[in-house]
Amino acid sequence: MKSLRMVINPNDKRSHINREIYGNFSEHLGRCIYGGFYVGEDSDIPNTDGIRNDVVEAFKKIKLPVLRWPGGCFADEYHWKDGIGEKSSRKKMVNTNWGGVTEDNSFGTHEFMRLCELIGCEPYIAGNVGSGTVREMSEWIEYMTFDGVSPMTELRRKNGREKPWKLKYLGIGNENWGCGGNMQPEYYAGVYRQFQSFCKNYPGNELYKIACGPSGGDCNWTESMMKNLKGEYGWTTNAISMHYYSLKDWNNKGSAREFTDDKYYELLELAANVDTLITRHKEIMNRYDPEKKLGLIVDEWGTWFDVEEGTNPGFLYQQNTMRDAMVAAISLDIFNKHSDRVVMANIAQAVNVLQAVILTEGEKMVTTPTYHIFDLYKEHQDGTLIYSHVTDEKIPDRNLSAVSQSVSVQENGAMHITLSNCSLTEEYEIDCCILDTAVNSVSARILTGEAHALNDFDHPDNVTVKPYDVETVHGGIKVKLPPCSAVAVEINA
Ligand code: AHR
Repeated sequence: MKSLRMVINPNDKRSHINREIYGNFSEHLGRCIYGGFYVGEDSDIPNTDGIRNDVVEAFKKIKLPVLRWPGGCFADEYHWKDGIGEKSSRKKMVNTNWGGVTEDNSFGTHEFMRLCELIGCEPYIAGNVGSGTVREMSEWIEYMTFDGVSPMTELRRKNGREKPWKLKYLGIGNENWGCGGNMQPEYYAGVYRQFQSFCKNYPGNELYKIACGPSGGDCNWTESMMKNLKGEYGWTTNAISMHYYSLKDWNNKGSAREFTDDKYYELLELAANVDTLITRHKEIMNRYDPEKKLGLIVDEWGTWFDVEEGTNPGFLYQQNTMRDAMVAAISLDIFNKHSDRVVMANIAQAVNVLQAVILTEGEKMVTTPTYHIFDLYKEHQDGTLIYSHVTDEKIPDRNLSAVSQSVSVQENGAMHITLSNCSLTEEYEIDCCILDTAVNSVSARILTGEAHALNDFDHPDNVTVKPYDVETVHGGIKVKLPPCSAVAVEINA
């Protein structure tokens, strides 16, 4: 076992960790909405207004702060008026992006808002720019957030909702450089400016507008947004988004369950690379916006593998192992580290799609290793990031640190440390010195397992969080990190 030094300085406060960094993304894709979140009122699966109770409870447990919907690529072909009113008369559509299946629109605005109410999370709605109109988006905002007398509020009331909902997060388009219209950056910037002008703040509701940002490392797109989104009276947006999938080759995605050690490290190296990409986008944003008025939102991130054998290739259903858990740990640490600019992140996707935190099959539900990372890391939500450093021990022949960490403090003084070890062979002992702090009480939890370990419907608790012992020493703590593990420590002084 190797020993590594760690230093924490609670006096060196860095940035606020917005709870929205721990967000999820849900799209009308495969079984994310239908079967995942929504089963309908008549289902035998226990539900509230058609929404699965087990899934709601699981998301409440990890304090899900925000949920993005209805896409993804789906957002730019979604027409919200088709998803309101009497279900039997809702217009059907073809989901051209995801398997060409017929979408019956039984899950629409009211159902999504109800889902967010049940979980207790903020809704984040992505509006249709690619195939929608300015009027359509404008009326959607009026429908959801206006309390007065208007055609849209009459319609909402007729559909059973008297009071408006609160809507803060509004995405104006999705991947408009690709599935959202194949636009060039300057063109999109112009379209964005027009659309956002008609997304009004009705009394009592203030929108936080999100413009489509870059794919991965596309700095040209970011530069163009920053150059073109400042209007006559200031910024026309509150944030730009960014999408980053840990995927090397779109034509050869590989298996979620079967992989060599080499593929394991390759994937984690890719995940860790988001640090460099965020740093580059931040440098551009800092030049145009040194006051950091605009946020960067990583509203799609995660792993993307071949679908599980025998499943619809358009449904993007993949299993989830301890390897995915390590991707999540590394990514969340990076988002925490950049929380001076990164104000939200949404893993793709919440249920049954890509790096899902939850999988369902009929009435069965399992939480994945990735879910358990969100469980371990949830205590960072709304904390203050403080300075920490661990000796940088690299994985041999890789540009990848073995240990990744975040430390935050809450207003009540509780300190939360998360540490992960992605080495497959080395156990580390972290000798952690905490400056100016007399450690009074310590508790810890661990997630660990062989890299291929996963939860399935017959073995739902194969990989799960367990209580863990941490040693208190003079001036700090000592934490043992087994290979392929993540540990969360809570310290009260
Ligand atoms: O998450 C799956 C898809 O990936 C989304 O629909 C799209 O925005 C991205 O390309």
